[in-house]
Amino acid sequence: MKRKSYAKINLTLDITGTRKDGYHQLCTVMHSVNLYDTITMTLTHTGKIELKTNLSFLPTDRKNHAYQAAELFFEETGIAKTGILIEIKKRIPVCAGLAGGSSNAATVLKGLNELYHTGLSIKQLCKIGRNIGADVPFCIQGGTMMAEGIGEQLTPLPALPKTPIVLAKPAFGVSTPAVFQQWDDMENHCHPNTDEMKDALRRQDISSVCKLLYNVLEAPAFAMIERQHVVNPIPELKSCMLRRGAMGALMSGSGPTVYGLFSSHQQAVKAAEELKTMVNDVFVTTT
Ligand code: C5P
Repeated sequence: MKRKSYAKINLTLDITGTRKDGYHQLCTVMHSVNLYDTITMTLTHTGKIELKTNLSFLPTDRKNHAYQAAELFFEETGIAKTGILIEIKKRIPVCAGLAGGSSNAATVLKGLNELYHTGLSIKQLCKIGRNIGADVPFCIQGGTMMAEGIGEQLTPLPALPKTPIVLAKPAFGVSTPAVFQQWDDMENHCHPNTDEMKDALRRQDISSVCKLLYNVLEAPAFAMIERQHVVNPIPELKSCMLRRGAMGALMSGSGPTVYGLFSSHQQAVKAAEELKTMVNDVFVTTT
């Protein structure tokens, strides 16, 4: 069985509170994008979970969200572990704010549910997925959603019309827990207007959507990057996208990937050409 495992971007990301378990209460509008890893799942008779990826630096054991997904699937369903080989062809950059790892876990849960004919509902899969990562329930459902709680309480929203997107990822990754921790240490937080973003999506008003793009994790991510690197490339990546005609540009999730929404594929390709002179990982895709 071969399945696509899609990345996501955040149109808005707000933190509305902290929790005793170290997680934060979120209110975020997430949107799937057409950049995907490919996951092949094959039943074997080894009695083991085996994981292979095309990236040598990725863990292939319990540290990988996809492995955890398979392990939890067998635990939760109680079915015999006959053996499964999971092969992941990564395209989504890693530690990038695009939920690549969570998406892989989601795809494995859905895939095993089909392969073993276990008939778990989306709700049941999301309940298992939530134990792997806050973004896994969104990745199981995909599309366009407002996510609250730690990210697992999902409300569907209308998707954007198919819109060209450019994604540009600086060469380094950022640690999600560290960015959240940095947010805790900062004061005077600004917030997105999530209600207006929802209205703009309902009206399919892309120009308002672009004006309302806002991510509260940008400021703490910038503070961290500026401590660790000589130059923070994110503002320049955003300006480059806007100069090249993006209707809006924002850092996704906890970063460091920047995305820009464009009105035409040609403009997106032109922007990508210039962005490639700044960073290696540049993708032209769509919502
Ligand atoms: O659940 P996930 O593994 O994706 O989260 C990674 C880290 O991001 C958590 O350990 C936590 O530090 C932070 N996080 C958070 N609040 C959320 C989601 C993630 O503080 N709602």
